[in-house]
Amino acid sequence: MSKIEEFRQIVEDQIQMLDGMKRPEGLYEPVRYVLSLGGKRLRPALCLTSAALFGDFSSAVIPAVGLEVFHNFTLLHDDIMDQSEVRRNQPTVHKKWDNNTAILSGDAMLIKAYELMTKSPVGVLPQVLEVFNKTAIEVCEGQQFDMDFEKTIDVTEDGYLDMIRLKTAVLIGGSMKIGGMLGGGSLRDCSLLYKFGQDIGMAFQLQDDWLDVYGDQESFGKRIGNDILTNKKTFLLITALNRLEKESKKELLDWIERKEYQAEDKITAVTSLFNEAGVSEIVRQKRDEYFFRAMENLEKINGKKEIKSELQSFAHKLMARAR
Ligand code: IPE
Ligand code: IPE
Ligand code: MG
Ligand code: MG
Ligand code: MG
Repeated sequence: MSKIEEFRQIVEDQIQMLDGMKRPEGLYEPVRYVLSLGGKRLRPALCLTSAALFGDFSSAVIPAVGLEVFHNFTLLHDDIMDQSEVRRNQPTVHKKWDNNTAILSGDAMLIKAYELMTKSPVGVLPQVLEVFNKTAIEVCEGQQFDMDFEKTIDVTEDGYLDMIRLKTAVLIGGSMKIGGMLGGGSLRDCSLLYKFGQDIGMAFQLQDDWLDVYGDQESFGKRIGNDILTNKKTFLLITALNRLEKESKKELLDWIERKEYQAEDKITAVTSLFNEAGVSEIVRQKRDEYFFRAMENLEKINGKKEIKSELQSFAHKLMARAR
């Protein structure tokens, strides 16, 4: 088993052991539900790996679980905002229960996440919380931009890239920086970890947007075409608008503005306009740009060689992910 796989298992076991979340059932059952659906545990695994780069990872275990609980909190609220009905191949919390449940159980998870983060050793606690607070508020900023963008057509490539940096990339960067700090990494190495994580996060979200159109629902675990239905200004859509000839561009804009349609018709039509514009390959190129820059920064880190090479192969696998 690889070290990262081992870390994932440690996180999984800790999640099963989370205590104090019993009554009322209506508040905590959805929390247990979402946490037991088996996500990739990417952020805590990267946090622990970052700690292990420099030394002992044990003080990072509970904060790493906090990062996963925080991530799952964002998913509960994100799924309401995006009207998503399926996640990890199961009904989303607001579908299985209702919006109010997803809001309040999400709130409880955010508080639980803070409780777990504050279990960091006192010596580094202020620094850990500083990174966590900054990250958490940036995720909210990114999510607001994402929603604002649904309602306008004036979204530039740079606007989109900054939005995904905030909603997704900073949490991956922050998780790695926090791990590095808990493992005793130097300031320099911790900021390199942040840069690495942020660029991997950019590539990860570009891949997520690609999978939302070109993925396979069963392996992706989410409904294909949801971003198209909610008029998300993804890199795919922005690229298509920039590249399509007049007639096709008008057709795409019509679909974005149309109020009445069959969901499958819109997904099929928009996907074929994406294909006409050749967006699939362009998104992959953009993803790879971030990936290679991440790799360059990883190279510069002074950490254990074998852990660095695990991070390398893990990042490669992540780029080829189907879920
Ligand atoms: C989903 O994150 C939200 C995005 C940033 C795309 P993950 O793809 O890490 O979701 P899980 O936790 O593995 O289900
Ligand atoms: C994820 O963006 C960002 C956060 C959850 C903070 P998406 O909305 O693309 O994530 P999925 O596709 O629903 O997992
Ligand atoms: Mg979203
Ligand atoms: Mg979503
Ligand atoms: Mg998505």
